[in-house]
Amino acid sequence: MQTTYESDQLLSEYLLMHYGTEQQLMPWGFGPKEAIGFPVRTVSHFPGGTCQRALDLGCAVGRSSFELSKNADSVTGVDFSANFIAAANHLRTVGSLDYPLRETGHQITTATASLPTGSHPEICQFLQGDAMHLPNNLGRFDRVHAANLICRLTEPEKLLRRLPELVRPGGHLVLATPCTWLDAFTPRDCQPAGDTFDWLISQLTPAFDLQRQCDEPFLIRETARKFQWTVSLVTLWERRAH
Ligand SMILES: C[S@@+](CC[C@H](N)C(=O)[O-])C[C@H]1O[C@@H](n2cnc3c(N)ncnc32)[C@H](O)[C@@H]1O
Repeated sequence: MQTTYESDQLLSEYLLMHYGTEQQLMPWGFGPKEAIGFPVRTVSHFPGGTCQRALDLGCAVGRSSFELSKNADSVTGVDFSANFIAAANHLRTVGSLDYPLRETGHQITTATASLPTGSHPEICQFLQGDAMHLPNNLGRFDRVHAANLICRLTEPEKLLRRLPELVRPGGHLVLATPCTWLDAFTPRDCQPAGDTFDWLISQLTPAFDLQRQCDEPFLIRETARKFQWTVSLVTLWERRAH
């Protein structure tokens, strides 16, 4: 199993991606500012209104979970990284977390992640766990969010097969993926052979109706002068009633 997401460098990069200010994330006026706020934008694809139970798979340091908490009675965030889950739990209980911000090379400053305004940390729980081997007693959810997770799994079909049981009939699933299939994460024979969207349709349509498909950019800042700009394929699905 991958330990990539246990590193302190990725912890800082994800705290910045999830909680950084626009000025911290993209200090250049000519940079792609529309790529900021990805963990907020993916959650905005759920239909309006409130719900009872929400699940955020691959929640990382928790921003989307806190966004889901604005319109849910309870939110469960699950991530394989113990380091990420510890950060999400720190934010949940303390409300803020200082982290190192790499400006250039070894030049480091300190930034502070804070809970988003209007979120409800008291209804969030964060669990370290494997999205391919979720506990049997999780129950059903009104909203399941899985952003940029499936192409980091060794066997993504294991999660896709479990989703119909996790989403209640009439409930919704938001699945985002940059389709960055890498042998280091997913053995070649477990990756889609062709187009990822076609593969998702074939995997999910027996139990879900596709409601929307769109593209959402996101930005990971490595230093103040080096960035990863990526486009995620976002799909919204409704669980069929049968
Ligand atoms: C590319 S990051 C995306 C994080 C976050 N959803 C976002 O959009 O910013 C992938 C996340 O999936 C987590 N992850 C990888 N394998 C996992 C697994 N088997 N079960 C649960 N989480 C996993 C990683 O620890 C990491 O937080």
